[in-house]
Amino acid sequence: MSITLHIHATRETANKKVAREIAELIRAKPHAVLGLATGSTPIGVYEELVRLHHQEGLSFRQVCTFNLDEYQGIDLSHPESYWNFMHRHLFDHIDIPAANIHIPGTRVPSLELADYCKRYEELITVHGGIDYQILGIGRTGHIGFNEPGSPPDCRTRRILLDQLTREDAAPAFGDLDHVPTHAITMGCGTIMEARHIALLAFGTAKAAIVRKALRGPVSSQISASYLQNHEHTSFHLDHESASLL
Ligand code: PGA
Repeated sequence: MSITLHIHATRETANKKVAREIAELIRAKPHAVLGLATGSTPIGVYEELVRLHHQEGLSFRQVCTFNLDEYQGIDLSHPESYWNFMHRHLFDHIDIPAANIHIPGTRVPSLELADYCKRYEELITVHGGIDYQILGIGRTGHIGFNEPGSPPDCRTRRILLDQLTREDAAPAFGDLDHVPTHAITMGCGTIMEARHIALLAFGTAKAAIVRKALRGPVSSQISASYLQNHEHTSFHLDHESASLL
C-alpha cells in the first residue's frame, strides 16, 4: 500500500482532477456517499462541482454527504460555521436535497454527545459507507480535526483543538479568543473506512507537514500519516506543497 502522488502544475489542475473523479463516481453511482471537508483548500473543487452541475448537468439529487467536522459553541448561522461554509460554497448552488446533507451540529450538549457521535457513525454505515472522502491537512497533521495524539481507530467524537489549529483559524474569527476551543470530528478510523480518499494540500506552508505525512513514520503525532496504510489514497499537491519531498 502506498499513497498515490499527484504533483499538479497548478491548483486549478488539482481541483479539476478531483472534481472530475467525483463527477465520474456520481455518474456511475447516482446515490454515491461523499465525505466532505472545509477550509480554504477544497473551495476550488466545490467551484468546479458547481460548474459541472450548471454546465454539464451533473446532478446531486441522490447523492448523500457527510462532513468531517464542525466547531462547537458557535451558532449554525455564524459565518465561520462549517454548516454555513458548505452552503455558501456548495450546497446552495447544486440540487442536493437538504435531507441528504449531514454535518455535525454546532451546539451538541455534553450529555448528548456520546449518543450523537454514535448516531453520526451509524448514519454513515446505514448509507453504505463513504465512497469518496475529500481531505485537507492542517499544519498539525490533522485530517478532520484529529489533532496529534488521535489513535488510528478513533471514531467520531468531541476534540480539543490544538493551539496551532486555533492560531491558523484566528484571522477568520477576528482574533484567537473568538476561535472555538472544541469541535466534533469524524475519527481516524471513520476516515480510513472511506473507499477512496483524496487529500489536497497547496502552498509552502503545507510543505513540511506533507513531507512528514508521506515520508515520515506512521504515528499518532501526525494523523495524516495513517493514510500510508489506506488502500486507495491520493495526495494532490502543487509544486510548493511538494517542495520538500
Ligand atoms: P486549510 O485547512 O484548507 O484552510 O489550509 C486545512 C485543514 O486544517 O484541514
